[in-house]
Amino acid sequence: HKPSTLKEIYAKYKNGTPISVVTAHDYISGKWADAAPSCDAVLIGDSLAMVAVGYPTTLEIPFDEFYYHCASVCRAVKSKYIIADLPYGSFESSVEKCIESSMRLMKLGKICSIKIEGAYEHEESISRLIKLGIPVTGHIGLKPQRFNGLEGFRVQGKTVDSALQILKEALFLQETGISLLVLEGIPHEIASYITTKLSIPTIGIGAGNGTSGQVLVQADLLGMHTGRGPKFVKRYEDLYGKGVAAIEKYAQEVSASAFPDNAVHTYPMKTKVLEEFL
Ligand code: KIV
Ligand code: NA
Repeated sequence: HKPSTLKEIYAKYKNGTPISVVTAHDYISGKWADAAPSCDAVLIGDSLAMVAVGYPTTLEIPFDEFYYHCASVCRAVKSKYIIADLPYGSFESSVEKCIESSMRLMKLGKICSIKIEGAYEHEESISRLIKLGIPVTGHIGLKPQRFNGLEGFRVQGKTVDSALQILKEALFLQETGISLLVLEGIPHEIASYITTKLSIPTIGIGAGNGTSGQVLVQADLLGMHTGRGPKFVKRYEDLYGKGVAAIEKYAQEVSASAFPDNAVHTYPMKTKVLEEFL
């Protein structure tokens, strides 16, 4: 079937049906996201730097490595709206740089929207992309690319000032022409309030149930790694536990000469040929 479109996502938004987005970081996770019929969109988030490539922060991943993962996801996803992040360092220095990085991602032929963390500081770049026909997804609240600032890696919008700032950024980004807005790590009351003040869908993560949709990191929701992760994550599976246990079982069976079982896991040979050979 054909990829879901922004139009279809907006139709859900207008109906009041929550939109579901999941990240993907490679070919396999792309296939899994693509195969879940109710899932509306796939985000190739720069969280893959930590989740799939092992960098301690998202700041470290070079654009080319991020691009390689985007290409893998794009080969897998056939039926979903795909949003891709612009990783740290790939767009901030100039409008040209932002267009160049975005165009490289768009040339993969599958990506439908480019996501940029921030607001006023990227005004020119965001409006240029939109003028060039590249839909932009905003991302405000907790901005992981800016954890070095005073705001740190913490929930945002907990004071009147901070909540008002986020609301203003949301309205500004809507005015600039973005199509979707990710709200990360803000109190649910603030995320809901902002959602009611906008006429574009909000996609929340750690922002409660009052946004127009949700996004989760696939590795978090499937429990692909150790640890519980942040409070907002619901772990729907324990793939880490299951995976390690299965590999351990395999290794033990190999040690015990219980795998492979010649009656099951091998190829047959004609007895006559075998007799001749032996
Ligand atoms: O990188 C990412 O996965 C994201 C989502 C958590 C919104 O930006
Ligand atoms: Na991201």
